[in-house]
Amino acid sequence: MQSAVKVNGLSKSFGANNRALKEISFKISSGEMVALIGASGSGKSTLLRLISGLIRSDQLAETEISIFGKVIQKKGKISADARALRSRIGVVFQKFNLVNRLSVLTNVLIGNLGSMPRWKGNLGLFSKAQKRAAMHALERVGMVRQAMQRGSTLSGGQQQRAAIARSLVQGAELLIADEPIASLDPSSARKVMDILSDLNQRDGITVMVSLHQVEYALNYCPRTIALRDGEIVYDGPSQALTQDFLGELYGAESEELFLPGLSSKSDKPVKAATNGVAHPQLSA
Ligand SMILES: Nc1ncnc2c1ncn2[C@@H]1O[C@H](COP(=O)(O)OP(=O)(O)OP(=O)(O)O)[C@@H](O)[C@H]1O
Ligand SMILES: [Mg+2]
Repeated sequence: MQSAVKVNGLSKSFGANNRALKEISFKISSGEMVALIGASGSGKSTLLRLISGLIRSDQLAETEISIFGKVIQKKGKISADARALRSRIGVVFQKFNLVNRLSVLTNVLIGNLGSMPRWKGNLGLFSKAQKRAAMHALERVGMVRQAMQRGSTLSGGQQQRAAIARSLVQGAELLIADEPIASLDPSSARKVMDILSDLNQRDGITVMVSLHQVEYALNYCPRTIALRDGEIVYDGPSQALTQDFLGELYGAESEELFLPGLSSKSDKPVKAATNGVAHPQLSA
C-alpha cells in the first residue's frame, strides 16, 4: 500500500530552548483514518502544519516529509513539488476556515483555485460544471440550504462542513484537520466526524485529524498517534488505549476527559472503529 504520509526524523524548534517536535517518524498508508491526540502544547498543530507544507522543519539531514511518495519538504527546505502536492491536501482548521463576506457556495468554489488559470479565479469565473460540483459537495455535507448564505452567518459546525466541502471540490486525497470539532457541541461534532469518516470510507480519502476529545478518536479512528512534549508516545490501534495511559498522557488535563465505556481502573481495550466496519455511534 502506498504511503499517504511519510515522516522521517522530523524536528521543529521555535528558538533555542523550544523544541516542539523531536525527531519523530511514522507512516500513514493511503486510506487510513488516524487520530492525533496529546495535551495542549504537545505539538499536534505544529506537526499538521509541517505535513501540509505550511511551515518548515529544522534543517537536520534526516528530516524529510513525503506525501504520496513525493517529498514535500526535506532538511528544512520546501520542495519544488510542494505546490502540486498541496493541491492534493485539504486542510481544515479549528476556526477561520471561510471568507466571511463570501457566500458559502463561493467559499466552496475557492477549492478550484489551485487548478484553474489565476485570472479566471480572480474574476470569480467559475464554470457551470464547477458550480454543479460545488453544490454536489455541499450536498455531501448536508449544506445545500445554506449555499447562498454568507460565510460569517454559519454556525461553527456548518463552517467546518463547508470547509470540508471545499476540500472535496479541490479533489483532496489527504484531509488534514486540526481540531475541527474543538469548539462544537456534541451533535455538531458528531456530524463533522461522520462526514470525515464517510469521506474516508466511501471515497478512500486519507484522514489525519487532531482531536482534543479523545472519545472521538476512539470511536472514529482505527489508529491513534499520541504526542507528548513533541515525541510520539503511542502509535497503534485506538482500541488498545487505556484510561490509565490517557490519564498519564494528559496529566492535569485528564480530568476534563470524558470517556464513555472506559472505567478508570480497567485496562480492557476500548471499543473502537475498525477499517471497513461502521463505527459505533457515541451516546450523547
Ligand atoms: N509560532 C510559534 N512560535 C513559538 N512557539 C511555538 C509556535 N508554534 C508553536 N509553538 C510552540 O510549540 C509547542 C507545540 O505547539 P502546538 O501548537 O503544536 O501544540 P498543540 O498540541 O497543537 O496544542 P493545542 O492542543 O493547545 O492546540 C508549544 O510549546 C508551542 O508554544
Ligand atoms: Mg493545536
